[in-house]
Amino acid sequence: MNTFMNVEDLGNLQEALAEAMEIKKNRFAYQHLGKNKTLLMIFFNNSLRTRLSTQKAAMNLGMNVIVLDVNAGAWKLETECGVIMDGDKSEHLLEAIPVMASYCDIIGVRSFAGLTDRKYDYEETVFQQFVKHSGKPVFAMETATVHPLQAFADLITIEEHKTKKRPKVVLTWAPHCKALPQAVPNSFAEWMNKADVDFVITHPHGYELDPKFTGSARVEYDQMKALEGADFVYAKNWSCPGVTNPEDYGKILSKDMAWTIDEKHMAVTDNGKFMHCLPVRRGLIVTDDVIESPNSLVIPEAANREISAEVVIKRMLE
Ligand code: CP
Repeated sequence: MNTFMNVEDLGNLQEALAEAMEIKKNRFAYQHLGKNKTLLMIFFNNSLRTRLSTQKAAMNLGMNVIVLDVNAGAWKLETECGVIMDGDKSEHLLEAIPVMASYCDIIGVRSFAGLTDRKYDYEETVFQQFVKHSGKPVFAMETATVHPLQAFADLITIEEHKTKKRPKVVLTWAPHCKALPQAVPNSFAEWMNKADVDFVITHPHGYELDPKFTGSARVEYDQMKALEGADFVYAKNWSCPGVTNPEDYGKILSKDMAWTIDEKHMAVTDNGKFMHCLPVRRGLIVTDDVIESPNSLVIPEAANREISAEVVIKRMLE
């Protein structure tokens, strides 16, 4: 595997899940694969889980790890092509990428959406430059439009906690004070469409996700109706994806607190489990009682980020 961005990059999903479960039983079994190999992790944005879990996964595989936080100590990088660099950015990605690639064997990139130019974000301009100019395997540690390591960890978590062969999984929008990217819901939708689950998406009008990720998934605009009988409730905020109105791309269209997941919402589920990728704003996305309840999976979900990353890096090493 040379690039990891979408669910198709993993091939057979059931085989990938089986590999994840095997690695979880013995996460040090493949130490030999990473001996004398180096992972470079590049962050254009903040991270807690991705940084720690991916570094741990690489260490489990016997790798050395270099982490570059572009916003802390590196030259500011220009990411747009064809510009006159007379601003505060001292180095262009086109030089920086091959230089960085010369120090490592595999590259993980966290880029992130600017949320102002839909075309720039959805063409994955920054991530694709790494794929094109590094000559090394590159994986997404959340890009402008996808977060596949998160979606894979979410799927592992659902597999571990499901009590029915085909559980009902509901992705629900929830309110937030900041405009957030669509990367997590995009990937979650993409991965759930490939999984053996009954998948429903619910959000206010105007928040329709890109059909490239949602496919034929059912969209139910009545949140309570969508949650009825749910086995898993996956809450997440996202800003307007600009599918129906491109001029609204990246905007906050609603802060309706009726969408905050509370006990009333969970009561209509089938003893549903609560999920969120974290970090989460309590009181906006979810109430304290729900996230602290025994049905909350946010901690095991985050722990599984180590496993999803290990499967991906292992396959790149192989
Ligand atoms: N869920 C997730 O990617 O968390 P971080 O932003 O902390 O890495």
